Amino acid sequence: MKLSFRVRGFTALAMLGGLAWTAAVPQARSQEPIVIKFSHVVAADTPKGRGAERFKQLAEQLTKGRVKVEVYPNSTLYKDKEELEALQLGSVQMLAPSLAKFGPLGVKEFEVFDIPYMFPSEAFLARVENGPIGQRLMSKLETKGITGLAFWDNGFKVFSANRPINVPGDLKGLKMRIQSSKVLEAQMRALDAIPQVMAFGDVYQALQTGVVDGTENPWSNMYTQKMHEVQKYAVDTYHGCLGYAVIVNTKFWSALPPDIRSALESAIKEASRFEREIARKDNEDAMAAIEKSGRTKIIHLSADQRAVWVKALAPVQGEVAGRVGKEVIEELVKEQAAAGVK
Ligand code: LMR
Repeated sequence: MKLSFRVRGFTALAMLGGLAWTAAVPQARSQEPIVIKFSHVVAADTPKGRGAERFKQLAEQLTKGRVKVEVYPNSTLYKDKEELEALQLGSVQMLAPSLAKFGPLGVKEFEVFDIPYMFPSEAFLARVENGPIGQRLMSKLETKGITGLAFWDNGFKVFSANRPINVPGDLKGLKMRIQSSKVLEAQMRALDAIPQVMAFGDVYQALQTGVVDGTENPWSNMYTQKMHEVQKYAVDTYHGCLGYAVIVNTKFWSALPPDIRSALESAIKEASRFEREIARKDNEDAMAAIEKSGRTKIIHLSADQRAVWVKALAPVQGEVAGRVGKEVIEELVKEQAAAGVK
């Protein structure tokens, strides 16, 4: 049958349109895997980096290949601020940002985890994260189009700089890099230091060039970012915890087939157990490697010396109560008493 040019043209366009539509939703075809892009800002060989890889293995195994996880470590896909925007846009499906990075998103209550010495042990931190306080905080992400899947942890932070740090006054006047958290700003000001918010991926160069004088992080982040090459001193204050929220784009998560979502929930659960299990030893190994390098002198505090830091940083809790919530602080103080940690 000879089609008129007009009909032939229309038919061709309809076919092209159909192909384009099919290509636009590759997941509509059974053999195409559902792709999860998991972006983060730390090295692969860190608790969070290893946790993300373990999630990848488990997710692909438990979904029998129907899901493919692409992990992008070390800010290779997105840096700090960009990654949360990308998640909300759906350009990336999963992240595990530090709890100190949710303030700019409008969820300032997460900064309660930045209060110095509020969480004196991993066990207490896990008790809070897995209890009503943690669950209530995660639910605050929902209005941002984000679903919180789990908390991960990376131990406790130390201070580093290029001058000896023994007592709180030793940080006076230093430009100290921090994450985007008003509580961490208050922490640095309580030490008469000058807080400088900066993306994690930019810290090494900023320390190397003197844009900032020092910073804070757990040993594993310090070592894997080679900060020991550009920091002459560190002190084991263990003044604050570094926790993460493993989060997913809600629209993507809700649209998954229920059996896939259930398999991914199992993968997250096991990856979370694994990440917590390795965090303490990863940090101990990183501290030993830093000391062995001879590049950074680590000052080890006695309990009495650390008590001086606790006292110097105690005012921060009262200063930030209005921002993170007086009620949650009162709940935490009660939890501390119930857990016998203070
Ligand atoms: C930092 O920016 O210092 C940390 O949040 C990096 C990380 O995610 O562990």
